[in-house]
Amino acid sequence: MKLNLATRLFAAVLGAAVAVAVAMGVGAHVNLNRDFLGFLNEQAVGRLDLAVPSVQAGYRQQGSWDFLRERPDLWFRLLRPAPEDERVPITDRPPATATPAELTGASRRFTLLDAERRRIVGFASPAPDAIERAIVVDGLTVGWLVLTPFESVSSGAEKRFADAQARTGWLVGGGAVLLAAAVALWASRRLLRPVSRVAQATHRLAAGDYSTRVPEDANDDEIGRLARDFNQLALTLQRNEATRREFMADVSHELRTPLGVLHGELEALEDGVRRLDGQALKSLQAEVATLHKLVDDLYELSLADVGALSYRKAELDLREIIDDTAGAFGERLRSSGLALQLDLPAGPLPTFGDARRLRQLLANLLENSCRYTDAGGALRLQARQEGRQTLIDLHDSAPGVRDDQLPRLFERFFRAEASRSRKSGGAGLGLSICQRIVEAHEGRIEARPSPLGGLWLRVALPALG
Ligand SMILES: Nc1ncnc2c1ncn2[C@@H]1O[C@H](COP(=O)(O)OP(=O)(O)OP(=O)(O)O)[C@@H](O)[C@H]1O
Ligand SMILES: [Mg+2]
Repeated sequence: MKLNLATRLFAAVLGAAVAVAVAMGVGAHVNLNRDFLGFLNEQAVGRLDLAVPSVQAGYRQQGSWDFLRERPDLWFRLLRPAPEDERVPITDRPPATATPAELTGASRRFTLLDAERRRIVGFASPAPDAIERAIVVDGLTVGWLVLTPFESVSSGAEKRFADAQARTGWLVGGGAVLLAAAVALWASRRLLRPVSRVAQATHRLAAGDYSTRVPEDANDDEIGRLARDFNQLALTLQRNEATRREFMADVSHELRTPLGVLHGELEALEDGVRRLDGQALKSLQAEVATLHKLVDDLYELSLADVGALSYRKAELDLREIIDDTAGAFGERLRSSGLALQLDLPAGPLPTFGDARRLRQLLANLLENSCRYTDAGGALRLQARQEGRQTLIDLHDSAPGVRDDQLPRLFERFFRAEASRSRKSGGAGLGLSICQRIVEAHEGRIEARPSPLGGLWLRVALPALG
């Protein structure tokens, strides 16, 4: 049988309470039988010692035990403490009334034996462990007064006492059971319900429902934290899933566009709409190159994601790399009608890094500036060492990027609105790759609006020495 947590908790607390109640009951019973019976028996022995002189006096008056054999009713009269005046015949003494000592019922457990230990009167079956007192008259043992100790609580008053004890025991036990049930019920509501809510939500999450959330309660206990962490986990999964879908959609979109163009051009060639000449081949090559770059960039990013992008770092001079790369862009800048102002220090800028990746980084940034700056504009590339880092700043003139879009530039496939057309723009992967490269060098890259009117990209890399 499968029991849920609440039922098990209920059973455990209830079991513990019942065990405590039973232990209390047993304890009370043992107490009663041992201590209370001990007390009763002590009282009875006291009573026995008190009765001995009375019984002696009775024998002395009557001269034998025959009077008791004939009139057993005198027995209880005789047991009363010896009167001052021993001449008052026993038959004339008032019948025994219930004195407080009598209430314990001790005298009912007295037996009178004659000198030969035969029972004359009193308790019918004296026990072997009975307490005895000799009845000595004029130096002769004429009989024995014997007390059979109490073994259980049976006489009226004691029974009432025991019953009261038992009733209290039941009441306390019942109360404990009720209390335990209440505690178990409260605990299962207060503690287990939120846990079971998280359990159900986890089940839904595992089934792929990332929008699932659990109500967070204000308590800062383990359960409150569990709920908050669960929601955080669900949110992260939901975001990751959304990013994955978006990524897949973007990748397929970016692949389909050049493929579509290629397909169209090939069809035109096949149908004879277009002639297969140098111009057509160039156009086909350009589409293939676009596809090639896209696939390369995606491959590079996915390698960076799994941490498998290899870096061969060495001590190098960043000044030299910047100078080289800017030099290689000479023709490209001229054809775009852009002027580059290069502002480099006279001395080297020693850095520990991968020269090939750092060239790729600079080329990506310069390529963007060429692509997204209006003809007739200006670029400024500066580098300098400041404290323990080397700062590279690339400014360009209009157009820039809207402030709200600046933080998103490094997202994959993000393209600012102005360059949404494929004519001027790429896939939107270049800056993501730049960010990966900078991070692999323990540096930072930031985009800000440039005083020149366009975009300002700042790369900070740790400097050597
Ligand atoms: N210098 C710049 N001036 C203005 N906008 C820019 C500049 N650099 C980048 N951007 C904007 O940021 C977007 C993202 O640039 P990124 O280099 O990541 O992608 P891309 O150039 O569009 O494509 P890819 O680099 O993958 O070929 C660009 O589409 C463009 O809108
Ligand atoms: Mg780019």
